[in-house]
Amino acid sequence: MKIVSIVGARPQFIKLAPLDKTLREDHDHVIVHTGQHYNYEMSRAFFDELDIPEPDYNLEIGSGTHAWQTGQMLSALGETLPGIALDLVLVYGDTNSTLAGALAAVKLHLPVAHVESGYRSFDISMPEEVNRLLVDRVAQMLFAPTEDAVDNLVAEGVSRNRIFLVGNIMAESLLGHLDQVKANNILDDLGVVPKSYAVLTVHRPENTDDRGRITAIIEAVIAADFPVLFPVHPRAAQLLDDFGLTRRMNESRIRRLPPMKYLEFAKVQSEAAVILTDSGGMQEEALLLDVPCLTLRYNTERVLTLKLGGNQLVGADGDKITAAFRDLIARPPAISARPLNWDTEVSIRILAAINAGGELLKIGPQSGLM
Ligand code: UD1
Repeated sequence: MKIVSIVGARPQFIKLAPLDKTLREDHDHVIVHTGQHYNYEMSRAFFDELDIPEPDYNLEIGSGTHAWQTGQMLSALGETLPGIALDLVLVYGDTNSTLAGALAAVKLHLPVAHVESGYRSFDISMPEEVNRLLVDRVAQMLFAPTEDAVDNLVAEGVSRNRIFLVGNIMAESLLGHLDQVKANNILDDLGVVPKSYAVLTVHRPENTDDRGRITAIIEAVIAADFPVLFPVHPRAAQLLDDFGLTRRMNESRIRRLPPMKYLEFAKVQSEAAVILTDSGGMQEEALLLDVPCLTLRYNTERVLTLKLGGNQLVGADGDKITAAFRDLIARPPAISARPLNWDTEVSIRILAAINAGGELLKIGPQSGLM
């Protein structure tokens, strides 16, 4: 088969890496990069480090409003995909690249499979939730990371024979690189020792673009009075300056860093005392690395991380953030959770499902998605 993966944003490159290697064992694999992320450290660095081949196509769409960005991708994909003579389109996660990829494919009557299907925050104001819902509604094969994701899809009326509990592909990337992570010397380069610091990341617009919320988060982290490493996503960089927070951080124990490479960042996460983040994937990485996580959101689609005790929702509530952060430093919890199928064989399960896909991969008037 000729299988096309459509990716565009940093977390998608991490998910693509193990699948690319496994798919190439049996199939012709074509990579289309939408260009959603384009800076060296947000894109190219991941292809190099994770040994992903150069994308076959780069649509170079870049940044803009959600409508503009999604529309441009849809249009460019609508022109590119028909020329590839492909059998299946794979989309990953919940970004605008995921939505554009699924929509472009289904409009061309090309079968779509969704990797990381079924997560729901039940918060329709999140752009990612809209993307997840729409992609899962049109995909032919749905690869779910957890049992709760399967339950969400079943509750939405998706027929069970389209749903595959393959596990978490991000876990395959992380666990597959653990030896390299252990050997990485970024802690020496940064001059820090294990468990003597926390990691902070913030990139969601509801946090970064809201002066009150980002200020509450930064002030709460400063108030805990513990060393913090803060690799800043490009979205947040300018806003931190605009809101006067760069100056505040310079006077504090928060250390601002540029976006980090995958292995370096995994090392930094693995030896952190606490992870504070509004990222989806980092909630899962924290669980896999046995590091307690405070999620700077009021909900999460990664509900398993809450159930297994590795993660707490603290929102942008300053008092809550400081109290929970201090508590985790004073009384480090023992976390050791290994969710079902969060292992190094996720891509093998996906390949097996695709190889046995048969009728599921045919789109036509009789194919009925439910
Ligand atoms: C996107 C995803 C989000 C994912 C995140 C991972 C959507 C709706 N959001 O958010 O789900 O968690 O990626 O990082 O798809 N920028 C650069 N250089 C880059 C990329 C972005 O400077 O290489 C800046 C631009 O100013 C841009 C802003 O970052 O406007 C936001 O980028 P965008 O791709 O729109 O969304 P993310 O916040 O990265």
